[in-house]
Amino acid sequence: MRSTEIRQRFLDFFKERGHKIVPSSSLLSQDPTVLFTTAGMQQFKDYFLGKPSPYGKRATSCQKCFRTSDIEEVGDTRHLTFLEMLGNFSFGDYFKEGAIKYALSFLIDSLGVEKEKLWITVFKGIESPQMISKDLESQEVWQMLGIPKTRIFEFGVEENFWGPTGEEGPCGPTTEIHYELRETPCEKEKNCIPNCDCGRFTELWNLVFNEYYQNRGKNLTHLKEKGVDTGMGLERLSMVLQKKSSVFETDLFEVIVKEIAKMASRAYLLDPKPYRIIADHIKSSVFLSGEGILPSNVEEGYALRRVLRRAIRFGKLLNLPKNFSAPLAKIITEVYQDIYPELKSKQTDILTILQAEEEKFEKTLEKGLKEFEKIIKDPKIKSEKIVPGEKAFFLFESFGFPLELTTELANEKNLMVDKESFQTAFKLHQGISRSGAGKKFRGVGISKHAVKIQKSKKEIEEMTKLHTATHLLHQALREILGKHVKQMGSDINSERLRFDFSHPQKVTSDEIKNIEDLVNQKIREDLEVKKIEMAYTDAIKSGALAFFKEKYPEIVTVYSIGDFSREICGGPHVNRTSEMGHFKIKKEESSGSGVRRIKGVLK
Ligand code: SER
Repeated sequence: MRSTEIRQRFLDFFKERGHKIVPSSSLLSQDPTVLFTTAGMQQFKDYFLGKPSPYGKRATSCQKCFRTSDIEEVGDTRHLTFLEMLGNFSFGDYFKEGAIKYALSFLIDSLGVEKEKLWITVFKGIESPQMISKDLESQEVWQMLGIPKTRIFEFGVEENFWGPTGEEGPCGPTTEIHYELRETPCEKEKNCIPNCDCGRFTELWNLVFNEYYQNRGKNLTHLKEKGVDTGMGLERLSMVLQKKSSVFETDLFEVIVKEIAKMASRAYLLDPKPYRIIADHIKSSVFLSGEGILPSNVEEGYALRRVLRRAIRFGKLLNLPKNFSAPLAKIITEVYQDIYPELKSKQTDILTILQAEEEKFEKTLEKGLKEFEKIIKDPKIKSEKIVPGEKAFFLFESFGFPLELTTELANEKNLMVDKESFQTAFKLHQGISRSGAGKKFRGVGISKHAVKIQKSKKEIEEMTKLHTATHLLHQALREILGKHVKQMGSDINSERLRFDFSHPQKVTSDEIKNIEDLVNQKIREDLEVKKIEMAYTDAIKSGALAFFKEKYPEIVTVYSIGDFSREICGGPHVNRTSEMGHFKIKKEESSGSGVRRIKGVLK
């Protein structure tokens, strides 16, 4: 069965059972404490906490997910950084029995999976730090449905308790369905069972029973309404149904792997690992850049850079020709464009972003690798088996080697990297660049201008208004175009503001109108502009926007405009938005790949 059909069957199965089909949300998480969407439940988090769901009490989705937690395992038969998660959700409706019955019925009745191949894990309970009881109910339901006790196993928190995502939220015990890929137990354990890493089983479907709320202090309280959150990787399910020995041989990867094989110097069968890493990482890069993310050294941009550069390094091992990422990306967009049409509309941007990053890294990779070899010849490093953080920082700074890349190279030589001293070197460097820009950190905005050049009072007033307008514009862009929008640069003089931001395509005239209208609406609302000092980490947690390219000190100033905008910034700003006049966008144009520029005025 092709993956397209599996995806559809899943959604239809749950639709027929009263679930609303909800489209995948963005890969960029809405929760300020996490960067990416790593699970289907994330877009529904509030509905588990009692907020009324606009979809009713039952929902189902196929969610794009990106996680780096398993990155080192990519290369085996079933771990990925990008995956599609099939899920069904109940917000205070059915619970354990309902969820287990649906799951079993979907696998067996709808897909024809052999029941004998299904093995189950359930939560065994814990006593401390807080007592959570054993999940006897799930065990009973499984047995009632004909799964023998000999195929049901109990595990603790590590394996069978899920959540929350971010710093607080719903969580609870889980029961997992594992599929037996091979009958013979592994060599280590005569009777190996699910969660053994020998490859005999693959975890297929995770059914989470959200009964608890975990707060920031990690205390659990009972939720008013119990919920169900399930997640099953489409790639693994396709592997099982298409009877393949790895996810990379399913139709979700086959053409990508074949394309790599055409260019590679070594056959897939001889050593599939580099193939798999390249295929998975380029796929992630396609989806991430499809969200408007650009490679950079911070946050989402860093995650993209990290996977893409890792793919490029493995490309070297297979002697792939220069610029291999764009042709692969093109194939990936074609595999997925019917399901995710944004990949089609953004194809040119995606290819441009990947190619530009590959060209950039290509220039330094070879030299950096030579430098790494030189570094590890040092007798001290050889004997202590630790690469000093300063050396790793040097590779980062001069050759664009993400820390994880250097760590991986080091591990291949049985060496470790001192990550702490890397961080120290990193911070020290930031300090030096900052003091070069002026002893006291001033934030980004017009304060630098105002200090450097003597301006008339009138000019400073105009610039102050335009500066506040920049904040309103930034937030309006994120609301109208999407959360991928990040400030990439800003320049203000007394006549106009100029604002650069990440966005992969031209902003349409309708969008421009909506953005202007939203800014003007906020000006008319006469919102108060407030300034407070807080720790950088708290500012980010509270949702404050930060200038993408800037590194911030521990304590920062945050300006908020009503409830609409919140940004880390050095000021100055107007006191109330009604002081500003009427906002107009004069020009929208490109400012480099994936970056747009808006010029705007106040009248
Ligand atoms: N949230 C759970 C997971 O990601 C089940 O959907 O595995």
